[in-house]
Amino acid sequence: MSDPKYFSGKTVIVTGGASGIGLGLCEVLEGRGAIVYAADTNAQRLDEIADGPGNIRPLALDVSKEDNFLKAIEHVVREHGKLDILVNNAGIALAGDFSETPVSDIEKIVAVNFWSVIHGTRMAYAQMIEQGYGHIVNVSSSGGAMPVPKQAMYSAIKHGVLGFSHSLREEAVHHGVKVSTVLPGMVQSDLWENAVNIKSYDMKRSMESTGLKPITQREAGEAIADGIAANHRSIIFPRINGIILALYRFFPNLMTRLVVTPLAAPEKT
Ligand SMILES: NC(=O)c1ccc[n+]([C@@H]2O[C@H](COP(=O)([O-])OP(=O)(O)OC[C@H]3O[C@@H](n4cnc5c(N)ncnc54)[C@H](O)[C@@H]3O)[C@@H](O)[C@H]2O)c1
Repeated sequence: MSDPKYFSGKTVIVTGGASGIGLGLCEVLEGRGAIVYAADTNAQRLDEIADGPGNIRPLALDVSKEDNFLKAIEHVVREHGKLDILVNNAGIALAGDFSETPVSDIEKIVAVNFWSVIHGTRMAYAQMIEQGYGHIVNVSSSGGAMPVPKQAMYSAIKHGVLGFSHSLREEAVHHGVKVSTVLPGMVQSDLWENAVNIKSYDMKRSMESTGLKPITQREAGEAIADGIAANHRSIIFPRINGIILALYRFFPNLMTRLVVTPLAAPEKT
């Protein structure tokens, strides 16, 4: 584990903090002494967090709306005079045959999974440049470093998040600002359950058919917290995911045949 005092007194916003990986990260960071805001659209979950035993602060935020994001960041900076870390984690899933996908669903996932990262980064970055320090953490996916058939838009956006974050990291260092990218493998969360499935596609069943065992949201939170404290360029977990991504990088054709192509098979009903 990293320096146990690293997060002490740091002000952090985690988008999508009401569930799954975001909630796991909020709990870990709060446990390590950070002032943590869970920012989310899910009002019911935010209320439960507010009433819960911990000290995680709920923040109503729709990340796809630029003005919403600005208000949320302004609120936190007003309260604490600084923003140390922004984790752009909120996201949704869209799965099924691309040829059948309505443009409205495509626009929605671009807004929630991509524009959110740009809005959040722009605003936090301006504040952090002024401060002379800060850390922006953008959540991509293993699907941001290898293809995922039947999730082409999700994968495209996660590739975009990865390219954006890795590029910005090199610029931002000159302003004293750090940028890290998270590439989770499979983690227990509501993502697959709440996925927008096109026609009769079943994302949950498709993910389960890989045979990979999801880790807990707490384990994901620990891995992300350690990666932030170590200022890793890419934060990759669980271990099997790191192995798959490394193999894909060096043997793309073989890995496509073994891992990617099976996901494109028509669903058995
Ligand atoms: N679970 C996995 O296996 C996995 C793997 C790779 C990447 N990821 C990524 O991790 C991130 C977190 O996903 P998760 O698995 O914890 O899913 P989740 O569904 O449990 O959590 C996502 C959270 O984002 C919130 N959210 C959705 N739209 C929002 C909006 N417009 N504004 C604010 N909040 C919004 C939801 O209310 C929810 O609380 C996502 O970016 C996802 O793509 C997840």
